[in-house]
Parts: sequence; C-alpha cells; structure tokens
Amino acid sequence: MSDKKVLLEIPNLDEKVELSIHSGTLGQEVVDIAPLAKKGLFTFDPGFVATASCESKITFIDGENGILLYRGYPIEQLAEKSDYLEVCYLLMNGELPSPEQKQKFTRQILNHTMVHEQIHKFFTGFRRDAHPMSVMVGTVGALSSFYHDALDITQPEHREIAALRLIAKMPTLAAMCYKYYIGQPFTYPQNDLSYSENFLYMMFSVPSEKWQPNPVLAKAMDRIFILHADHEQNASTSTVRLAGSSGANPFACIASGIAALWGPAHGGANEAVLDMLMEIGDVKNIPKYIEKARDRNDPFRLMGFGHRVYKNYDPRAKVMRETCHEVLKEVGKTNDPLLEIALELERYALEDEYFIEKKLYPNVDFYSGITLNAIGIPVNMFTVIFALARAVGWVTHWNEMVSTPGFRIGRPRQLYTGHDQRDYIDENNR
Ligand code: SDX
Repeated sequence: MSDKKVLLEIPNLDEKVELSIHSGTLGQEVVDIAPLAKKGLFTFDPGFVATASCESKITFIDGENGILLYRGYPIEQLAEKSDYLEVCYLLMNGELPSPEQKQKFTRQILNHTMVHEQIHKFFTGFRRDAHPMSVMVGTVGALSSFYHDALDITQPEHREIAALRLIAKMPTLAAMCYKYYIGQPFTYPQNDLSYSENFLYMMFSVPSEKWQPNPVLAKAMDRIFILHADHEQNASTSTVRLAGSSGANPFACIASGIAALWGPAHGGANEAVLDMLMEIGDVKNIPKYIEKARDRNDPFRLMGFGHRVYKNYDPRAKVMRETCHEVLKEVGKTNDPLLEIALELERYALEDEYFIEKKLYPNVDFYSGITLNAIGIPVNMFTVIFALARAVGWVTHWNEMVSTPGFRIGRPRQLYTGHDQRDYIDENNR
C-alpha cells in the first residue's frame, strides 16, 4: 500500500482529516475513508459507483480500454486456448494447473457431478412452468441442507470441498431445471464426457435415443462458460460476499448470488436481449427503438448495451460475437433473422451520438442469447447458464473473503432523511 495522503477539510469540524491513498497492481487508486467514521462522517455512494468494497487478487477490468484479466491472463487468450475447468482451477488457485494438477482437479469435479437423490424431491414442489431461475435459487439453496461433513468455513478443506461440489453440481441442477420444465426425465451425468459435453448431454439426451456430442457446440458452450466465469465485484458477486461476511452456509450464499443475477439489469439481460430482438422483429423498426432508448422519459433500454465499468467494447462481447457466427454456421442458421437485427442494431448504436456520448457498447449479454438460442437452449434458461458459469467466480470471491484473517461482517450505513423522533399517537387521536 502506498503512503500517499489526501487532506480533507471538514467545515463544521474546523479541522483537516488526513486520509491514506492506496495503490493496487493495476487500476484506480483508492482513498481509505475509515478515519471519517471517527469524525462522525460517512461517504455517500448509492449504487457503489465509486466505492471499492474490498481488496481482491482474482479478476481485473479496465473499463476504459475494454480489458478483462482472470488472475492476470486476458480473457481473449483464455477463451481461445483454455477450457472452463482449467479456468476454474486458475480462478480458485491463482495459477494455471500443471497437467497432473489439471487431471487431479478434473477427477475431483467428476466425483461430485451427481446430486443427492433426495434433491429430486425438491423439484416436485415447483410448478412445471416455474421460471428455471426460481428453481435454481431453491435447489442450490437446498444444497445447504446437505454436506454436514464439511460445514466449518474456517477449515480450508471444508471450503475447498464446498467449491468442488458447487462447480460439479451446477450443470446437473441446471439441466434438471430444464428437464423438469419440459416434463422429461432427469438425466444422470456421464463422467466420460467433458464438462461441457456432459452439460449438453444432461440437457438434450433422452433415455430412448442415443446421444452424440457435437464438438463445435460443446466448444462454444465451454467458451461461454469461460466468458461468464468471473467479473470482479458485480452485483451478484457483491451479494455473495455480503451474505458470506456473516459466516452463512456457502450454498445459501451462492443462492443469494443467483437471486441477484436474475434481474434484467444484470444476468437476466441475456434473456431480455432476445425478447427485445423478437419485439423489434425487423431491421426497419430499429430507428424507433433507438429513439425510445434515447428518450429519458421512456423506461425502454437497449438490453445488452451499456455497463457500469466498460466504457468501451466489452471484450467478452467480441469473443461471443465470433462464437455466435461459429454456432450459427454449424447449425445452418447463418441467415438467422435475430442475428441480422442484432448486427444492424449494433451498427446503428455504435454510430448514434447518444450511445457514443454515454459510451454505451454491447456487453457480454448482447450476443450470448442468440448463440444459446442457436444451440437449442430456451430463452428462460439463458440466465441459468450464466449462473452455472459464474458459480466459480462467486465461490472464489467467497473463499478469498472468508480466508482473509480478521474479515468483518459487511454493514453499510445510510443518509437518513426520514422523520425526526416523535411520540406515539393514540388511535382515537389520528
Ligand atoms: C451484466 O457489473 C458487471 O460486471 C455485470 C456483468 C457481469 O459479468 O457480472 O458484466 C453482467 O450485468 C452486464 C450488463 C447487462 N445489463 C444490460 O444489458 C441491461 C441494459 N443496460 C443498462 O441497464 C445499464 O447499462 C447497466 C445496468 C448495465 C449499467 O447501469 P449504470 O452503470 O447504472 O448506468 P446508468 O444506468 O447510470 O446509465 C448511464 C446513462 C443513463 O443515462 P443518463 O441518466 O445519464 O441520462 O446511460 C443510459 C442511462 O439512461 N443507459 C442506457 C443504457 N444503459 C445506460 N440508455 C439506453 N440503453 C441502455 N442499455
């Protein structure tokens, strides 16, 4: 931490407070505001636009230049050269695995791909037409009622087995959500398949037919998992950290992250993008929707555009667009009308002065929906896929926090603008 200081003059205290400035490896410096509390002052930053909630070594985003690093490695290189389980190892352990470490880690994951048979009973309580994200929140949260052999989060081994179980079981639970929704029998994992092949197998195979993995679609799925694996202190990761700061069960904390991710401003945007493209319906309608997006009085937003941190092209969106073209070619939908609208919408938006002024670029969700749709995944499963992939990020941030000596419960303060103290009024005097 650097020894730079900033001097804050506090008018009604008639004194100056010295605050330390800390520098990280990359990115913005931070002002340590802890001394302000002793002066009876809070900072005020709704939405945490300018607030660093923690110190972390996992992921770094340079929003101005559209850079995303997982443990220092650029997302473009990982998407091209790595695979999702290797990225999980990297995020969790901080280094790329040796061949032996990768083999051991893969075996550990495969040993946990099945869920307890009792979990099947949790599904039957849901309506068949329940949104799959509601089922994911419920069933991942239900994992907190199992595994009492490893509930002491102060034990590194207990934290590690919780992480391995989570990463291994998310595809199984996600596929079960889909099977339950469409009324088909659950499919058990096949551990001779790769992680992504196994997921597609559990999603699309049926007992009455032989199923063969499509290597192009499996590779695309794996790349989508890599792109969504982690993203610093986004809303859902911050939710997991805050829940975890009380010492809560790790699976319950992950369920809180799934709940936060569901919103259309966050992970629910991939589903909202496809709904938006279908609503636009034809490229000739694009100008009308761009106008709606520019109108501050119109709540319509161009879903899949804009980002709290990226004020340049989201590097994940570029990789996703390439993946989208590969998948559409593989499934013979190169003239997909939704892609045509998306490409034209992107061209319009990138040339429009409103979007240029607001620095609104496509984000990871803009092309993921079209890609997932072409793979055959229904729209209401898009955010479930996002949750599946992000589970490793959530659990890695949770572990980074709970393994930090002396970590404290998160407890933000507020600016109170409600009533001053007043006395109770009896009912007959109101
Ligand atoms: C994800 O945080 C993460 O890292 C998230 C994520 C991850 O990997 O975890 O990257 C995943 O959530 C990606 C974002 C997916 N969401 C969407 O695509 C929904 C559409 N985008 C917007 O809702 C919005 O851009 C957000 C929520 C993504 C960002 O919101 P901010 O940072 O609070 O930005 P803002 O709402 O303050 O917007 C700044 C200005 C506003 O105009 P003014 O009030 O200044 O006049 O830009 C406008 C907004 O109205 N604006 C948009 C817009 N996004 C922002 N106008 C039209 N269409 C949009 N999409």
